[in-house]
Amino acid sequence: MRIYVEANYEAMSKKAAYILSSQIRLEPQSVIGLATGGTPVGMYKELVRMHKEEDLDFSEITTFNLDEYYPIAKDNPQSYYYYMMENLFNHVNIDLSRVHIPNGMAQDVAKECENYETMIRNAGRISLQVLGIGPNGHIGFNEPDAQLEPYTHLVDLDEKTIEANSRYFNSREEVPKQALSMGVKTIMSAKKLMLLASGQNKAEIIKESIMGGITPEIPASFLQLHPDVTIILDKEAASEVL
Ligand code: F6R
Repeated sequence: MRIYVEANYEAMSKKAAYILSSQIRLEPQSVIGLATGGTPVGMYKELVRMHKEEDLDFSEITTFNLDEYYPIAKDNPQSYYYYMMENLFNHVNIDLSRVHIPNGMAQDVAKECENYETMIRNAGRISLQVLGIGPNGHIGFNEPDAQLEPYTHLVDLDEKTIEANSRYFNSREEVPKQALSMGVKTIMSAKKLMLLASGQNKAEIIKESIMGGITPEIPASFLQLHPDVTIILDKEAASEVL
């Protein structure tokens, strides 16, 4: 596990964009796993800049997002589909036919989850998976539980997640109660993982995840078992491990 502690959010975002762009430049046909939420917004902004100013070429990559709320329509500004279009896809030369995000309006959820896993498998292994972390230790939307789901599945969101994500909605009531998420085995099967965390409210869970025991009550603690993990923190998020 490699841990970088950066001075602030901007430096964390630039480091993450540097690593992700290096992956794309080294392997233009990389399969990239993407995350949403507040944390990677700065990384996406930097990647867009690299595309515009430094010829970073997205045309051959394939992407799989970790998760999507359920139910939610693509044109809902709170959907992760909308987020990805706004923050990255609309601004770079990505081939949208190679972009994958779980369908938040799928009628047959079991089939959607199975198809998503099949598409990931058919694309080959994910080269680099970007992750954020919930204040409760979730990765993707794998919430703390007595046991974790291995593959893409429908999740009942934790009260803590609904609370944390209500900051992106007008009210707590508007936050969807469920989501589709890659499973822990899907995530752990990526060749490389890169987790970003920023801010004091992530400090305690970062410490528990990387220095404590491995437990499904802290899904991010499973990252300790992965052979190639890069963690990029700003000073606040690192404050309990320094
Ligand atoms: C989003 C995702 C979530 C977030 C986590 C942190 O695709 O998988 O695990 O990374 O909830 O969210 P923020 O960055 O908003 O604190």
